Amino acid sequence: MRTAIIFSALASIAFAAIPFLNEPDTGFNADVSPTGQLPALDSIKGIPDFEAVARRHMNVSDYSYYRTGAAGEFAYRRSLEIFDQVKLRPRTLVDVTNISLNTTIFGHEFSAPFFIAPAARAGLTHPRAELNLAEAAGAGNILYAPSLGSTKRIEEIAAVAAPGQVMFHQLYVSRNKTKFASDVKRIEAAGFKGIFVTVDNPIHGARTRESRYGWPSTTDSDPKFTWESYQELRNMTSLPVIPKGIQSVEDALLAVKCGAPGIYLSNHGARQLDTSQSPLEIAIEIYENAPEVFKETFVFADGGVRYGTDVLKLLALGVKAVGLGRPFMYSNLFGRQGVEHLIDILKEEIALDAANLGVAELKQLDTRWLNFGRLSAYVYKLDRS
Ligand SMILES: Cc1cc2nc3c(=O)[nH]c(=O)nc-3n(C[C@H](O)[C@H](O)[C@H](O)COP(=O)(O)O)c2cc1C
Ligand SMILES: *[C@@H]1O[C@H](CO)[C@@H](O)[C@H](O)[C@H]1NC(C)=O
Ligand SMILES: *[C@@H]1O[C@H](CO)[C@@H](O)[C@H](O)[C@H]1NC(C)=O
Ligand SMILES: *[C@@H]1O[C@H](CO)[C@@H](O)[C@H](O)[C@H]1NC(C)=O
Ligand SMILES: *[C@@H]1O[C@H](CO)[C@@H](O)[C@H](O)[C@H]1NC(C)=O
Ligand SMILES: *[C@@H]1O[C@H](CO)[C@@H](O)[C@H](O)[C@H]1NC(C)=O
Repeated sequence: MRTAIIFSALASIAFAAIPFLNEPDTGFNADVSPTGQLPALDSIKGIPDFEAVARRHMNVSDYSYYRTGAAGEFAYRRSLEIFDQVKLRPRTLVDVTNISLNTTIFGHEFSAPFFIAPAARAGLTHPRAELNLAEAAGAGNILYAPSLGSTKRIEEIAAVAAPGQVMFHQLYVSRNKTKFASDVKRIEAAGFKGIFVTVDNPIHGARTRESRYGWPSTTDSDPKFTWESYQELRNMTSLPVIPKGIQSVEDALLAVKCGAPGIYLSNHGARQLDTSQSPLEIAIEIYENAPEVFKETFVFADGGVRYGTDVLKLLALGVKAVGLGRPFMYSNLFGRQGVEHLIDILKEEIALDAANLGVAELKQLDTRWLNFGRLSAYVYKLDRS
């Protein structure tokens, strides 16, 4: 009897669901003052702090647009929680005095291996919208790729670039072929150096959270866009065209076969298809089935990245540059200074984490620094015979 009680008590502890924490408790007080004033920027010590501020400060309609995932948001929550399933294996007694975060992307030098992912409607947090993101990226020398759904026009964003600043641009494939051709031309003419063409949204996602507030539930995306159309698009521009939203080893291999100069692993911030794999799992799937992909093409990835360790885990799998969407959008509540603060926090975390991991140079990172055994057990096995 007593044994049964003890057993059931232990079982309920073992099987109790761990509550989801959008911002794990690290002691941040995100209270917005009654007059609606933001907390002091220097009280923001970690990237999730920006999310806590946004939820209290933005109205529920605008916040829901940024925050929404598809349907039950299982994929959204998983993309944040999954990083904890991959454990780090630090090496010790390594000289880690000079860790440089410098990263080359398509021949362009940047100061860090992370970038600002394309996200629409930056105007919801700040009147200067994408201009702040572009300027902060220029000041911090990181890559920014504005969305085609930006508040500001393509040309306005290009105009605030610092001398020598390199930006990419996101592209949606419009059904209107005149508009599509004009978008491609405008991006190239404005001086952007690469195109992320989004391939994970042939139609809109079933976005329950945002649908409560009247956000448009349709897109202009061309559902007929195929690998053949991708090749036609590449013929329309001299810029490198990188498919954004690759989610399987099969598509990664097809992209390599097509000669794609890069691929971008993403599930669109879990806004399109609920229960789709998180980008960390996609990277593991590719690593386990076709690790050569990471050598044969330049791999970008985003989704749920909130900490320096998240970046290092993706890099160790072979990803070369890691994007963040929502956090940068939220940081823009504070304007350009907020965006710069986020860049500084993440650079600092990556440098500290790399040193504690015993990595003298980021390019040494590989899967020997990881234990992802638990995830490998569930990985999709591709039959390549
Ligand atoms: C508010 C919002 C708008 C977005 N708009 C676009 C877009 O216009 N084009 C696109 O390719 N991806 C878009 N995304 C997806 C992001 O590029 C990125 O894949 C995603 O935000 C990464 O996940 P994270 O928010 O967890 O960092 C958007 C994401 C958010 C949150
Ligand atoms: C939310 O805030 C935005 C910007 O301040 C404003 O334009 C919008 O009308 C507000 N929406 C609601 C539902 O209050
Ligand atoms: C670190 O940089 C200093 C100055 O450039 C150099 O003298 C030293 O050898 C470097 N150490 C390592 C481990 O690379
Ligand atoms: C990193 O890049 C900056 C700017 O291009 C440069 O000044 C610096 O020397 C580089 N550091 C290393 C260690 O390569
Ligand atoms: C297609 O796009 C062009 C250029 O943006 C625009 O002038 C035209 O009105 C659009 N056609 C339709 C049917 O929406
Ligand atoms: C792209 O251009 C090349 C060279 O002009 C041509 O051989 C190829 O058929 C074109 N591909 C498509 C899909 O238009």
